[in-house]
Amino acid sequence: MSSDSSITPPIARVKTTGLHVGEARPGVPKTDPVIVADGVRRTFGGLTAVDIDHLEIPSNAITALIGPNGAGKTTLFNLLTGFDKPDQGSWTFAGTSISGVPAFKVSRLGQVRTFQLTKALGLLTVLDNMKLGAKHQRGERLFASLIPPVWRRQEAEIEERAFELLTRFKLDAKASDYAASLSGGQRKLLEMARALMSEPSLVMLDEPMAGVNPALTQSLLEHILDLKDQGMTVLFVEHDMHVVRHIADWVIVMAEGRIVAEGDPAEVMRNPAVVDAYLGAHQDLDLGVVTGRYAAADADPTTSADASTAADAEAIAAQGEAEEDAK
Ligand SMILES: Nc1ncnc2c1ncn2[C@@H]1O[C@H](COP(=O)(O)OP(=O)(O)OP(=O)(O)O)[C@@H](O)[C@H]1O
Ligand SMILES: [Mg+2]
Repeated sequence: MSSDSSITPPIARVKTTGLHVGEARPGVPKTDPVIVADGVRRTFGGLTAVDIDHLEIPSNAITALIGPNGAGKTTLFNLLTGFDKPDQGSWTFAGTSISGVPAFKVSRLGQVRTFQLTKALGLLTVLDNMKLGAKHQRGERLFASLIPPVWRRQEAEIEERAFELLTRFKLDAKASDYAASLSGGQRKLLEMARALMSEPSLVMLDEPMAGVNPALTQSLLEHILDLKDQGMTVLFVEHDMHVVRHIADWVIVMAEGRIVAEGDPAEVMRNPAVVDAYLGAHQDLDLGVVTGRYAAADADPTTSADASTAADAEAIAAQGEAEEDAK
């Protein structure tokens, strides 16, 4: 079995199309955006980690955010979810401005995220981790906490939802184990299950598949596809292009803090600049061309994305001819 077929969803899902208006390009407007961001910039000392003119994330679809290490994907997640503050910029979630709104409020509005490095609390049980994901815990409010029937009823509802989700993610047998005892992959599942406790409308997953064994990868993929079936919007960061091709309806490519390409998966993966950003031998210089730091006209065959792709193609063709000659 090839690695490709091992991640093919058993039940093929229909890709969502018609997400954008006009030609697919960085910052292209969406027919129904859930996030609209403008002029978002985050620097760390002299380094510009995120520098986005305009970005729209489509609703009710699965969008993959891809790009080389250090492109700014996690920083963008941190900004959009209120875990970090930008130098400048503004954005809306479902039409409401949430720039500067802290993370706990953002998640109450229905926008949740998971972390590249899982943040399950190891010294809490799996069930307690789930309960922390619930929103509007009446027992936390002073007056309600004085009326036991109110919080008992709510506690029961939260536990019921937690068990439903743990069952769905095949973690129910581990409910009373410490989260620290879970495998890396199971912790990823727990984080995703916990995010769903707050009944979000937008789920943002930062490398949900990283470090997960192939069997769990398959089930994680299914869970992500299920989220869309259940009416949620998904934005996920992923390095594995097979995964992206299989489950993403739309792909956004970042490099050096900027959006350098957008499109449906097939289209984006045909883009020579994108291919080069991942596979090219001259990554740094090529990305300079892609991000507009170097004018394409100034580029020479050893540095420009297009030119080096063409050079690679020539090299491959020449190699083929040589093999033919040797026969
Ligand atoms: N808190 C920080 N302080 C200083 N620099 C930071 C900080 N967070 C991120 N950076 C830098 O910002 C840039 C973007 O980092 P980020 O983690 O967003 O990249 P990424 O696209 O998520 O990469 P990866 O694919 O490796 O996860 C990197 O150069 C990184 O070193
Ligand atoms: Mg990252």
